[in-house]
Amino acid sequence: MQAPTLAELRMIRTFATTMYAEKAKRRYAAWVQGDPLARAGLAPWHENPYPMYEQVRARGALSKTRVPGVRVSMDHDLCAAVLKSRDFGSVGREAPGRESGEIDLSLLDMNPPDHTRVRRVAAPAFTPRRMAAYETSIEKTVHQLLDDAERQGSFDLQRALSAPLPITVISELLGVPDADSDTFLRYGTALGSALDGIQSMRHARRAYEAKYALERMFGRLIEERRTDPRDDMITLLSQQEGQAIKASEMLPLCQLLLVAGFETTVNLIGNAVHQLLRHPDQWELLVADPEGRAPGVVEETLRFEAPVQFTSRVAMNDTEIHGHEVPKDRWVLIGLGGTGRDPKTFARPHEFDITRTDNADHLAFSSGIHYCVGAPLARLEAQVALRLLAERMPRLHLTGDVPIRRSVTIRGVQRLPVAAA
Ligand code: HEM
Repeated sequence: MQAPTLAELRMIRTFATTMYAEKAKRRYAAWVQGDPLARAGLAPWHENPYPMYEQVRARGALSKTRVPGVRVSMDHDLCAAVLKSRDFGSVGREAPGRESGEIDLSLLDMNPPDHTRVRRVAAPAFTPRRMAAYETSIEKTVHQLLDDAERQGSFDLQRALSAPLPITVISELLGVPDADSDTFLRYGTALGSALDGIQSMRHARRAYEAKYALERMFGRLIEERRTDPRDDMITLLSQQEGQAIKASEMLPLCQLLLVAGFETTVNLIGNAVHQLLRHPDQWELLVADPEGRAPGVVEETLRFEAPVQFTSRVAMNDTEIHGHEVPKDRWVLIGLGGTGRDPKTFARPHEFDITRTDNADHLAFSSGIHYCVGAPLARLEAQVALRLLAERMPRLHLTGDVPIRRSVTIRGVQRLPVAAA
């Protein structure tokens, strides 16, 4: 493992100290000032942040936060308008408050015209034709994982199914050989968890080590595919290197495709099964018609328990949104998870109902130019997993407490203890 340089170590330290200070401030705001937004990601409120979101909503469609210059919204229509507006952009790596060495989030950090150019390179990997081709291989992977789980009888569904499925699928899709998939898993997890905020010096160091290891691995694979092309995404991307995409943009894009599929699809599957087993009538509906009902479960989970709860945008110039003035450089924190519970958009918002038809407009995959490019793949993986789970384990039930992850941005379970019969 290549050790970080002195400059990098300094950066890691600044990063971690800032995080400690930020954490202390958040705790003070949560416990002493009763700030609902600060409470949402902290214990005990993290178990159910939705009442906190309702308090934020009650303050207005766009309200101030304790951080100067940052506003927040849980209003579905206002958030959709911000995400689609050309007056708002991605916060970007050059934004004040972000460290220059912070992990490059590729497309997510980019604005037009660069964003448009790089997005055109990535999008062909997710066409309906390609999705149809992946389906059989996803089914095969789910069957293998469920074979192992069945042998155990009682198991943690996150470890047995939700976590390994997206990793296997994205490795195959990118074209990472088996020999490298261990590195991939270890470092992808470290990098994925860093996106949720660096928690300590050790964590920062792990994330940076992961960044270097993945860069080396992708660097080597890109090099190999140039001379030995295959039918995979790295080949597809490397063929456009130097034309549509700059060499320096390749690695961040590969890393984004990896981590974007890591921390999200895992939680979509976990949150779906968790809610279904908490609402046995809904599980029975799925069991009665797995193929017909699986898509409805996926959409309702995205509305009800969005795996990504927040994103943000910055005003590119003085602007106005739904009658609220937003000066240039002010941030808007977009409560994707809260918008799914907006009573103006969704009837009975706090009810998990897989038969509802008014949930197509959820913002779990964002909206506008950054709309999740991997959405068709995430939907497909989750639908296949839920369908086969209901077909093969119709008597699936919870066998213990389900701890929720302590996180502001990611909504998911730490473990999902279940038994097949
Ligand atoms: C349930 C699973 C997923 C959820 C909830 C999710 C959510 C999101 C959200 C909210 C954004 C936009 C953030 C913003 O507007 O600031 C996004 C963007 C993105 N997602 Fe996903 N995602 C999921 C799965 C995936 C998968 C499987 C992949 C790829 C393998 C992927 C790749 C991307 C990429 C590349 C972007 C950046 C698009 C752009 O900036 O133009 N996502 N995702």
